[in-house]
Amino acid sequence: MRLAELEASLGRRFARLTTNAVVARPRLWRVFRWLTRAQFSRLAPVWDSMRRPEAFAALERALDELPEAPKRVLDLGTGTGLAAFVAARRFFGAEVVGVDLAAAMVEQARERTPPELAERVRFEQADGARLPFQDGAFDLVQLANMIPFFAELARVVAAGGHLVLSFSAGPETPIWVPPERLRRELSAHGFADFADFEAEGGTALLARKGDRL
Ligand SMILES: C[S@@+](CC[C@H](N)C(=O)[O-])C[C@H]1O[C@@H](n2cnc3c(N)ncnc32)[C@H](O)[C@@H]1O
Repeated sequence: MRLAELEASLGRRFARLTTNAVVARPRLWRVFRWLTRAQFSRLAPVWDSMRRPEAFAALERALDELPEAPKRVLDLGTGTGLAAFVAARRFFGAEVVGVDLAAAMVEQARERTPPELAERVRFEQADGARLPFQDGAFDLVQLANMIPFFAELARVVAAGGHLVLSFSAGPETPIWVPPERLRRELSAHGFADFADFEAEGGTALLARKGDRL
């Protein structure tokens, strides 16, 4: 195995290990945070070359099912912003915020923002475990290949709003959480009306936040 392949394989294993640990015990995030940030900061310049064109097919299938177009969208763990651009193109008129832990990813996302979306899409560096937004700030929060922090997700999704968790390679995605685990955690945090989607090898889960907790 070449050195670059070995490094990529170790990176994928580390991402899965981190996901499992943090979903089981969110407080462990402080141990993993700096390594995760370092890992994705390094990957930022080459991230898009690692994406398949159909990487967001399952996310898009879930977005097809939203009962109405959201006006305030958060793309959490946005990386180079590709899924944020998907949402902005689909929901004409929506304000879209892409958030990432790694400043280098945010930099790439800003550089890649198409001029026609620049007025409605912005990117911020922040930690999904502690978001700088008010309670109920978004009527859609979407995650593509990102570790879910359930309590923060429940806090920032508005009552009656929606959440989509998507994984581009289904169970083969390095950052992946089994759907039954997602449903259990989300139910405990006030989400319901779950729907599963599959497309192009990817999976997605759509959930609605209850009108009150
Ligand atoms: C696997 S990449 C996915 C990027 C993008 N969503 C995509 O699918 O192309 C995960 C991204 O989440 C970011 N990330 C990881 N933990 C985070 C956290 N706690 N808060 C915000 N971003 C985080 C990483 O820096 C990385 O850019």
